[in-house]
Amino acid sequence: AANGLEYKVRDLSLAEFGRNEIRLAEHEMPGLMALREEYGDSQPLRGARIAGSLHMTVQTAVLIETLVALGADVRWVSCNIFSTQDEAAAAVVVGADGTADDPKGVAVFAWKGESLPEYWWCSDQLLRWPDGEGPNMILDDGGDVTLLVHKGVEFEKAGAVPSYSDDEPEEWGVILDTLRASLAEDPQRFTKMAEGIRGVSEETTTGVHRLYELARDGQLLFPAINVNDAVTKSKFDNKYGCRHSLIDGINRATDVLIGGKVAVVCGYGDVGKGSAESLRGQGARVIVTEIDPICALQAAMDGYQVARLEDVVETADIFITTTGNKDIIMADDMARMKHQAIVGNIGHFDNEIDMVGLARTPGITKVDIKPQVAEWQFPDGHSIIVLSEGRLLNLGNATGHPSFVMSNSFTNQTMAQIELFTKPGEYAVDVHVLPKILDEKVARLHLDALGVRLTELKKDQAEYIGVDVAGPYKPDMYRY
Ligand code: NAI
Repeated sequence: AANGLEYKVRDLSLAEFGRNEIRLAEHEMPGLMALREEYGDSQPLRGARIAGSLHMTVQTAVLIETLVALGADVRWVSCNIFSTQDEAAAAVVVGADGTADDPKGVAVFAWKGESLPEYWWCSDQLLRWPDGEGPNMILDDGGDVTLLVHKGVEFEKAGAVPSYSDDEPEEWGVILDTLRASLAEDPQRFTKMAEGIRGVSEETTTGVHRLYELARDGQLLFPAINVNDAVTKSKFDNKYGCRHSLIDGINRATDVLIGGKVAVVCGYGDVGKGSAESLRGQGARVIVTEIDPICALQAAMDGYQVARLEDVVETADIFITTTGNKDIIMADDMARMKHQAIVGNIGHFDNEIDMVGLARTPGITKVDIKPQVAEWQFPDGHSIIVLSEGRLLNLGNATGHPSFVMSNSFTNQTMAQIELFTKPGEYAVDVHVLPKILDEKVARLHLDALGVRLTELKKDQAEYIGVDVAGPYKPDMYRY
């Protein structure tokens, strides 16, 4: 734009639609709006240059504009090639008081349906402020930006980027190309950038898993806050969010009646619990697969049949992976499924379903029914329907979780950014969770909107159970 605002989105003329959706979402996001009220004057994020990589949806737009309202200078990308809502991206670029000809908002690089090279180009643009500086904060979902910075530093130390071999995932080759170009341009770019980064707040289970591995191996470069394991995140977004958005994705993709069908949910963690309930709520008979005896027992107690995939793969109608693990549904499994069985994933990455193996099946044909819905026809005549190429279907085929639940997640995100940015030195280079009193604050901010009247703990009652009247009310090990 003329004023120097950089961006790449689908179409700025969608901004008015996006702005209207954002306005409606704000009402459903009381936690974020309360933080704007609380911190609008004191501007705790003034001086923060936040690089955010998180599904560019309407709800994320409200998060971005909250960070800006608290003083931050923000750049943004989506953390998934299919998850952007183009109207939300346009509205964030245009800003509340800009126009398509004179955008005044935030630098966003995201559109629905990026290629993998485009995705990593966007992630690289995210880290380039117009003055040549990098970010001093990262807000990540799944850890792709954190990975880019860490691998960048690793290869700069080594002085070279390793070559790509064919048995590695295609995406890794794209990442290596991105880093090779960076190394040629400035052999210290990521090293200098990492020194200026005060911390990262990470949204999801899979990204948090990567962070703990980096910390364990002594490779973590800056402090991290694990937002996922705030109770008001994983026990709400992962569970109730998926309960809402899983069937939304299946319905928009296929319009197949779920009632009466047999659905298999692989994994019964937080996402699996919400997903199983989502399908049961529509009248499906749900079967769960698990490797963890505790979660398997939970599923059984909740009334689900617990089985192995190989025993039910020929009879079920819908298959959903929720594990955050790899190789859950393989090409051989899909070859055995019923005609027009539906296969989708709601875990963070696409390696839960063996898309590479499926494409290599001799004689197989892919028919694109519409964007993010493909029918794969096997040579024996049966076909299966794969959603979003095995990437998270609630964001690829629908619009992800609704505002109210994301307000809980993003209130945690905003508080994590404030903690890391305003208290450098207080957080060691390690992975931290937010204190429980803040977790309780997030929940508290969402009670009024639902008409909840909380009972007040009496002083002698508080003493009797050994807590403070103002909280926290539970020990850290309590599991909810
Ligand atoms: P979790 O760790 O609570 O649950 C995963 C479950 O899968 C565990 O109980 C584990 O025992 C089970 N599992 C692992 N390998 C398995 C296998 N081979 N077969 C059957 N079960 C297996 O993790 P959570 O929080 O439920 O997250 C799962 C994934 O979903 C992660 O990748 C996370 O990042 C992602 N996620 C996606 C969201 C979305 O909107 N699509 C929202 C939140 C999280």
